[in-house]
Amino acid sequence: MDAYRAAIVHMLHDPSQGRGDTAHEYFADGGLLIDNGVVAAVGAWADIKRQMTRGTQVHQFKNALIVPGFVDTHIHYPQIDVIASFGVQLLDWLNNYTFPAEQKFADQAHAAAMADFFLDELLKNGTTCALVFATVHKHATDTLFEAASKRRMRMIAGKVLMDRHAPAALCDTPQSGYADSAALIKKWHGKDRLSYAVTPRFAVTSSPEQLELAGRLLGEHNGVYMQTHMSENQKEIDLVRELYPDAPTYLSVYGGAGLLGERSVFAHCIHLDDSEFDGLARAGAGISFCPTSNLFLGSGLFNLNRAVSDGIKVGLGTDIGGGTSFSMFQTMNEAYKVCQLRGSPLDPLQSFYLATLGGAKTLNLDDRIGNLSPGKEADFLVLDLEATPLFAHRIALAPSIDEKLFVMSILGDDRLIGETYVHGKRVYAKPLRPDTITTAK
Ligand code: GUN
Ligand code: ZN
Repeated sequence: MDAYRAAIVHMLHDPSQGRGDTAHEYFADGGLLIDNGVVAAVGAWADIKRQMTRGTQVHQFKNALIVPGFVDTHIHYPQIDVIASFGVQLLDWLNNYTFPAEQKFADQAHAAAMADFFLDELLKNGTTCALVFATVHKHATDTLFEAASKRRMRMIAGKVLMDRHAPAALCDTPQSGYADSAALIKKWHGKDRLSYAVTPRFAVTSSPEQLELAGRLLGEHNGVYMQTHMSENQKEIDLVRELYPDAPTYLSVYGGAGLLGERSVFAHCIHLDDSEFDGLARAGAGISFCPTSNLFLGSGLFNLNRAVSDGIKVGLGTDIGGGTSFSMFQTMNEAYKVCQLRGSPLDPLQSFYLATLGGAKTLNLDDRIGNLSPGKEADFLVLDLEATPLFAHRIALAPSIDEKLFVMSILGDDRLIGETYVHGKRVYAKPLRPDTITTAK
């Protein structure tokens, strides 16, 4: 067993559902007991100390906060090269920057190198679980799963399906996309901590036949997810209307093909109408709110309050490379600003919930990850509350955990991540501060 001693905060429920202070647990002097990669106990140090068995290794941290690992509900592994690409909105951004970058993944050596770079960057930023778009290439998807398996990460990913309105080098066919996805499902879905997501890029780049076959894959394989983009940008929406003239709404394009269910996650959803909000809620589907991307690409302001009050599952997504940071702190920062512009500031506990347990719920993984309750897989972070002089100064002035979380969400980035643990094992550590103590009992 290993015991970790520091302040601890995690969410038990969605704070927007009126649970008051019972939505989270905070231990100013807390303990986390891990046995075999799983949380055995969490609580006040005085209680945890009594539960330790002989030989328990104690890891004690000063000025640190233990939190669950972050969950990123929407990100593209082949888009690291396009972060910070200037001047255009979605459709031009895809054609000018993104498709050329994704074509490079035809080269297996490039794909393998970028898969390692990508997963290491996630862990350095404290993200221990993600729902990931690969490229259209089967081998590039395979190599991403391989790299995640090596790191024992919980990851859901899929090969992009795209059979039109994209460069020929990036197009599959409905049949080859179906066959490649089925082979990847067979190889990876349910292996280690990995799951597969059927991944039609969006309605613009998939023919009706391809969407039908994507729906068939979902019907044929138990527990497989579906991820796509929806209602991100006005020109995209106009184009979908032209391409699918008989569909009453954007959502109905996906719903009609059998792609709408409780394992479906739709990125963006900025310009939904009432029937689309209703449809997502009734299906138990999830939305990935991607604020850094939505602001960077000028896409619009997601209506978080509406989605949450309709009972739709919502998680945060970085959407690298339309998004501008791997850091979930920076994603919370921009989420706050989106909500400010909509006239309703985002509560810091709600924001922290979206980045952890809310993300896990959106991925139907809240029985396994998302908080530090006993029985959960031990994915957690040790945050360094003295990461920078400014941060240390400002956080010391924040008396409550709500205020501390808010300061973290506004000033935080990868410098706050002291250590990252995946399934109970430390997989990332910043150089330790000299006052960090490790002792054996
Ligand atoms: N819509 C279709 N493809 C993409 C993509 O790669 N990124 C974003 N942000 N939106 C998309
Ligand atoms: Zn995206």
